[in-house]
Amino acid sequence: MCGIVGYIGREEAAPVLLDGLARLEYRGYDSAGLAVFSQQDGLKVVKAKGRLKVLADMVQGGRTIHGTVGLGHTRWATHGEPSDVNSHPQVSASGRIAVVHNGIIENYVEIKEFLQAKGIKFVSQTDTEVVAQLLEYYYEGDILDAVSKVLSRIQGAYAFGIICADCPDRLIAARKDSPLILGYGEGFHFLASDVTAVIKYTREVCYLEDGEIAVLTADKATVYDAYLQPIEKEKHHVDWEVSAAEKGGYEHFMAKEIMEEPKAFRDTISPRIHNGHVVLDNLNIDGAYLEQIDKIYIIACGSSYHVGVVAKYIMEKTLRRPVEVTLASEFRYCQPLVTQHTLAIVISQSGETIDTLAAMREARRLGARILSIVNVVGSSIARESDDVLYTWAGPEIAVATTKAYSTQLALIYLITLRFAELLGTIEQGEYDKIVAELLLIPTKMEQILNNKEAIQYFASIYFNHDSVFFIGRNIDYAIGLEGSLKLKEISYIHSEAYAAGELKHGTISLIEDGTLVVALASHTALFEKLMSNVVEVKSRGADVIGLTVESKGDEMKKTVDSAILVPDTHPMLVPSLDVIPLQLFAYYVALMRGCDIDKPRNLAKSVTVE
Ligand code: AGP
Repeated sequence: MCGIVGYIGREEAAPVLLDGLARLEYRGYDSAGLAVFSQQDGLKVVKAKGRLKVLADMVQGGRTIHGTVGLGHTRWATHGEPSDVNSHPQVSASGRIAVVHNGIIENYVEIKEFLQAKGIKFVSQTDTEVVAQLLEYYYEGDILDAVSKVLSRIQGAYAFGIICADCPDRLIAARKDSPLILGYGEGFHFLASDVTAVIKYTREVCYLEDGEIAVLTADKATVYDAYLQPIEKEKHHVDWEVSAAEKGGYEHFMAKEIMEEPKAFRDTISPRIHNGHVVLDNLNIDGAYLEQIDKIYIIACGSSYHVGVVAKYIMEKTLRRPVEVTLASEFRYCQPLVTQHTLAIVISQSGETIDTLAAMREARRLGARILSIVNVVGSSIARESDDVLYTWAGPEIAVATTKAYSTQLALIYLITLRFAELLGTIEQGEYDKIVAELLLIPTKMEQILNNKEAIQYFASIYFNHDSVFFIGRNIDYAIGLEGSLKLKEISYIHSEAYAAGELKHGTISLIEDGTLVVALASHTALFEKLMSNVVEVKSRGADVIGLTVESKGDEMKKTVDSAILVPDTHPMLVPSLDVIPLQLFAYYVALMRGCDIDKPRNLAKSVTVE
């Protein structure tokens, strides 16, 4: 997903822009560029395929490109392969207007043909160049008017940063479906894809809404609605530390964020448990509402979807209500059965995943009430929900989610307990037992992390496999989905998660000498059944890593090749402990395979394009 940063102020813009882009690298990209205006050089554009270092070296860290206003961009290619010419900023034919963009212009071909018929020559394959050329086509001396006309013509998702050489005293920002924030300072202003890029300079931000346009000068930031009427925007104070968005001595953000999981989990549950009682203050859902719901629909993508699969097992068992979990990208196109009696729980770390955002809007259109679980404060999904519960994981930089996943689980537990209390479907003793165990989870996570070298050892044995199966039953299967994705996305090893009982319906034909199987058996109610699946795969030559709770360790060790044990806990909370070794295993395997752990190939931290 692309990264955008714009600066207008009294400092040299290029070093500030490069610093901002470096803080957005985690979003995933394949090229980078700058556009900076100065009176002596005019509007200068420097851009290149490759890592940000390539660009920084071209401008000697910003020392060879002057001016106090500019735009920066890291591009994750959608239209047009990664190349110098397809990098952003994209520039109009005259060179006077430069645009950086995150999103997709769906009707760019039609507009490109219209402009080409007018004799306008294009140099790139990008949809964004169409915007730059269309701006110039409409430009008659008022850049804001030209922007307004362009926005009325284009369709699709966009976050734009725009600079015009004729009016270098301002930057323009506009958004629809792709995140864009403004940063406020004394004598300077920013526009950026997210807070991470600007927090070193300012903690005062606002979040542009769809259709809004902002004009930034060094001393003023004005936001307009789609009718170019000025509007007042609420400013937010960002309170997390800059260091939270830095590696802090770890080799990778992913390693840091795994180590932060106990704290993130504790920060997420502690403010919501008062004297052994779950309190979800800003959740406006009561027992009367819950009694009349026909279904809980959990909607998400990727790891957030995997949290939803865990949630289905937990919530149906505890609430005795139908819970359906679905991939956001599928939900939108399957005529889902949603009524005004449906509660949609939308899970998203970034709060900007376009499939999830669009599915949420569809669920609302069909009458559902929206409860979202989000990590990024002020993100689109958070702002469009009826209720939002924030995971207090802090900024998660690594593309592969770890602490956000864990804190999403934490909120699922709290929501389940609260709903069970409201519906009267849980005994007080059971409720108290779960809450007491919940408070111990961070400490038990720390016990696992204190023994991470054991996982590193297993990774050193198994890192050369080229396919891996994760098998489990019930909630273990749900955890296996996440373990498999973690391994796939950062080590590039093909792996699959299977409901263990499903193996004999086809997949077991793939098991042969040396096939690696990770057998999850922490759901002890089905331990014996899972172990019989282990015997099945072992008899066909598989190497088996077993994962279970300490109380079942000795029994498991009789059968598996390697055993990973986690502390015992309440069955509902097992996912929070089991997932830690699986994250570590994926991390160490990827490390040993020399992969780019924080920025895996082809991936972005938040997928804001369909
Ligand atoms: C998880 O490691 C991946 N980075 C990816 O599957 C991610 O969970 C998915 O894109 C959903 O992102 P979201 O939670 O920000 O919506």
